[in-house]
Amino acid sequence: MPISARTKVVGLLGYPVAHSFSPPMHNAAFKALGLDWVYLAFSVEPRWLPAAVAGIKALGFMGVNVTIPYKESILPLLDEIDPLAELIGAVNTVVVKEGKLVGYNTDASGFWRSLKEEGVDPKGRQALILGAGGAARAVAFTLLKQGCSSLYLANRTYHRAQELAKTLEKAGSIPVKAFPLEESSLASILPEVDLIINTTSVGMESKGGELPLEARKLETRHIVYDLVYNPPRTKLLELASSRGCRTISGRSMLLYQGAEAFTLWTGREAPLEVMKEVLDSLL
Ligand code: ATR
Repeated sequence: MPISARTKVVGLLGYPVAHSFSPPMHNAAFKALGLDWVYLAFSVEPRWLPAAVAGIKALGFMGVNVTIPYKESILPLLDEIDPLAELIGAVNTVVVKEGKLVGYNTDASGFWRSLKEEGVDPKGRQALILGAGGAARAVAFTLLKQGCSSLYLANRTYHRAQELAKTLEKAGSIPVKAFPLEESSLASILPEVDLIINTTSVGMESKGGELPLEARKLETRHIVYDLVYNPPRTKLLELASSRGCRTISGRSMLLYQGAEAFTLWTGREAPLEVMKEVLDSLL
């Protein structure tokens, strides 16, 4: 459908956003349902975030997705926060409802749906989460709710991991320990856990870098999940595969968090097969 004066606009706010597959995924979904909507990606420098958020309303957008590094910092800029997003402390989807910006978190259900699809039950498992940002919050609260028996958080900025650990311990009744993201701390945690989830942007196409994880500490019982989906085989997943671990890429979480956002914006069920095909063709 050609873009016209009536086309409804949604988009992505993040920094950077060039790596994102959300635009092709959502645009294919709009097309499949014959919706006169368009999804655009906006690379917003931190100093422009408040202006960009005001612009969602000012320009009459229907909503946005929010990604690194704004999933937490956007909260005070919104009019209302859905209770789940409030509990998690992170928003990845904003819907404009009667002129108000309402924040939601679809990362949590997207992550949970992807785990179920993979047949991974967190109940009774011990998990290590790398990162302590917005995506880590969604993952951590999901694992808490689904019965993980203990959580380890490792983050470059140690105090963020400490703060998140405190919040999680208050919300649940399992031990949550915080560590700096360093080789020595990961080496001591790995023998304790069976599920390892990278929620940092390390390994992303546009960013690169490597996690301080020693290959020989990985064992076949470890399930390694990288929320990064571009590239589909990150260095972390390559490393884990080479050690015989089961690996999960961020593709299905991207799909399911996107599908729920699509429904929040349009009120329509997302055409999952179409969205999946787009991701398959890109990855
Ligand atoms: P969001 O809220 O969208 O998840 P974020 O809060 O910036 O974005 O979170 C990104 C995560 O990736 C954080 O855990 C961040 O670590 P810091 O808290 O130290 O910033 C992590 N991260 C980003 N770049 C990193 C890098 N080069 N090395 C290690 N961790 C990194």
